[in-house]
Amino acid sequence: MDCRPIGIFDSGLGGLTTVRELQRLLPSEQIVYFGDTGRVPYGTRSRETIRKYARQDIRFLLSHQVKMIIIACNTVAAALAGDTDFLPVPFAEALTPAVHAAVRATRNGIIGLIGTKATVQSGAYERTLQELDPSLQILPAACPLFVPLVENGYTSPDNPVTRLVAEEYLAEIRARNADTLILGCTHYPIIQPLLQSLMGSHVTLIDSGQEAARSARDRLFQLKLQAPPGSAGGCRYFVSDSASEFQESAEAILGHPISGTARQIDIEEFPDRV
Ligand code: DGL
Repeated sequence: MDCRPIGIFDSGLGGLTTVRELQRLLPSEQIVYFGDTGRVPYGTRSRETIRKYARQDIRFLLSHQVKMIIIACNTVAAALAGDTDFLPVPFAEALTPAVHAAVRATRNGIIGLIGTKATVQSGAYERTLQELDPSLQILPAACPLFVPLVENGYTSPDNPVTRLVAEEYLAEIRARNADTLILGCTHYPIIQPLLQSLMGSHVTLIDSGQEAARSARDRLFQLKLQAPPGSAGGCRYFVSDSASEFQESAEAILGHPISGTARQIDIEEFPDRV
């Protein structure tokens, strides 16, 4: 048993899809969330910049004595490409568990993958999928406009702008009959109702934010690091830009108030060495 908090980070709002699931699975845990809202998006940046940002984000979370770190960002997981030995605490991430969930879900072996430009170009998803099953057919599509749309609140299933963009991005995956679609960016589950309506109810959508939380829960239990049952759980939120703007969007995503728990910090004060 361990009362220390779990640290979760992402470039912005996306990692809240992991927070949401973790709070449901493990309500007794304390969470420290960092959303790098001042530097979002990560997915259009170079691998080196993404890795530098990730090291600073991790350094910030470690300053809160976290017992585990959840990399609730596929773009960071893809940029690290397994290079995680520098982490001084156990960790979980979004990419590998999403791959496992997709392999379990597919019936026809055709899997669509949507993610940021950096994630798709890294080839990390394809490599991990093909290691598990070389016969899979993988249809990747980079969707660089989704993160800014989500960060700006264009998330309603009837939003005509987001719908048009999604139709364009999903056209080939739909035409080639994928039966499973990996939402390989933690921002995308926020527009899941729209994506599901375009793909049709016969297609299984894999929520990488949710899968990261499930994987973290398993790891926590394996290492016996869970909080004592009955402890009061909660989450403190930190961002690198306006806390009030974040609060409003976060409440919509989480479905409950977070009033008074979001604070702005200067991420540049944290060195990019762990
Ligand atoms: N939510 C992130 C991911 O899972 C990053 C999105 C971005 O900042 O481009 O990839």
